[in-house]
Amino acid sequence: MEEINKKQKDFWSGAGGDVWVDKQKEMDIMLNPLGNKAINKINFSDHLTILDIGCGCGETTLDIAKKVPNGKIVGLDISEPMLQKARLSADERSLSNTEFEVKDVQIDSMPSEYFDVAFSRFGVMFFEDPYQAFKNIHSTLKQSGQLSFVCWQNPSLNPWQSLSIAVIKEFLELPSPPPKSPGPFAFEDKDYLLDILESSNFENIEISDNQEDITMFSGKELRQACEDYLTINPVVTEMLKNSTDLLKDQILNALMESFSEFDNGNGLVFPSATWIVSANK
Ligand SMILES: C[S@@+](CC[C@H](N)C(=O)[O-])C[C@H]1O[C@@H](n2cnc3c(N)ncnc32)[C@H](O)[C@@H]1O
Repeated sequence: MEEINKKQKDFWSGAGGDVWVDKQKEMDIMLNPLGNKAINKINFSDHLTILDIGCGCGETTLDIAKKVPNGKIVGLDISEPMLQKARLSADERSLSNTEFEVKDVQIDSMPSEYFDVAFSRFGVMFFEDPYQAFKNIHSTLKQSGQLSFVCWQNPSLNPWQSLSIAVIKEFLELPSPPPKSPGPFAFEDKDYLLDILESSNFENIEISDNQEDITMFSGKELRQACEDYLTINPVVTEMLKNSTDLLKDQILNALMESFSEFDNGNGLVFPSATWIVSANK
């Protein structure tokens, strides 16, 4: 039997993780406003102990660390290169109340009743068994502890995904991954998300609809933005992994045509739809 979450570990610790490290600034410009919506749901006091699930290169971890000067924040992730970047940034900013550790939040043990808050910016949709993962998260929270995260809604409301998949499917005959598969859109279905949280014994669950424009690849020209796009998205990279360079070039050109209406000369501006989720233990 294959190791649990192996595909995700290979992607985020391999080529995918390297690209996220390389493009961190652009990714943060795109994701910060959405992450802030989930951060704003947290009821802060300066001594909290906080978990950042799938913290990646650590932008949210370091941001939240400043809000808990007498507490601490622990970033857990399966990607060694992304965590290395996070540690480097914490040192550069002289933040001493952060810790980063390689852990699979679905299966690795975490201290029981330890965290006041579990937070995530787009780091909770990649579990092979989200029910097991959220039970693990529930058990590492203190009684009444807070959960707050942001995740994507349906691709049709996120044209940066739906248009690119439509373009790729013009060239490649590929089955779509089954709904609920680990990936950026695993939690598109609100009822499924609610069921995961209820089954994990969370209370006061709120799943709010958030729609706003986002800027992808700020400062990049259309070609570069589309090239970068084809490397950062785990669904897309999986689809393209066996394609020839010629085919990749054709797909890039078609993607540029499809994305051009969103190009504002300083990046791509797309409508987006996310769920802002909060709950308590
Ligand atoms: C879309 S990225 C988001 C990264 C970061 N939160 C951000 O907003 O920049 C998803 C992150 O989840 C991490 N991840 C995926 N599966 C995980 C798991 N089972 N346990 C911990 N982290 C995981 C990935 O390694 C990756 O860093």
